[in-house]
Amino acid sequence: MTQLPHLTHVTHPLVQHKLTLMRDQDTPTAVFRQLLREISQLLAYEITRELPMTTKSITTPMEEMEAPTLEGRKLALISILRAGNGLLDGMLELIPSARVGFVGLYRDEDTLEPVQYYFKVPDHMSERMVIAVDPMLATGNSSIAAIDLLKKSGAKDIRFLCLLASPEGIAAMKAAHPDVPIVTAAVDSHLNDHGYIVPGLGDAGDRMFGTK
Ligand code: URA
Repeated sequence: MTQLPHLTHVTHPLVQHKLTLMRDQDTPTAVFRQLLREISQLLAYEITRELPMTTKSITTPMEEMEAPTLEGRKLALISILRAGNGLLDGMLELIPSARVGFVGLYRDEDTLEPVQYYFKVPDHMSERMVIAVDPMLATGNSSIAAIDLLKKSGAKDIRFLCLLASPEGIAAMKAAHPDVPIVTAAVDSHLNDHGYIVPGLGDAGDRMFGTK
């Protein structure tokens, strides 16, 4: 099982530079989307460090060799809709053979609890490394609910990838799913009264899709 710590903060200069550009309210939608695509690949590189490896025999133009290759079932990337799709696109460029799933949740305005409206994941979840993606770990409610559903589908080796995390969201995730490591590009100061991350970057879905 994973050797990753509960929280990995990716401080690589390229990640931090791109994130600053994304936070800027004057960054246009097209640039925001492109940056998200680029940053998601750098984060994917970090979170897949422990993919199991084996070797296979190949022949180079010089000689035969036992060469390293990925082992086992393809990993599963799970987008938590809708903002998760922004991270997913870039990750799929880096890991084109990954299997893909989607979890859709909305917040019931009376109970404030997340309610599932869509759930579709690859088969053999128990045998795959599963990476759930959502750019913002804010209250953690929807991410925790999504991981509850992934565990019900059989997933055992789950990681969570986000761009920004709040201290509140990290604590909530650790309490609910201590076995799920979080990889993030930043841990921000706090949540405001509306559940937005401060200083944050605003509504990630609106910024990537150009909605309000
Ligand atoms: N979702 C967002 O898109 N932004 C936040 O700051 C919090 C949740």
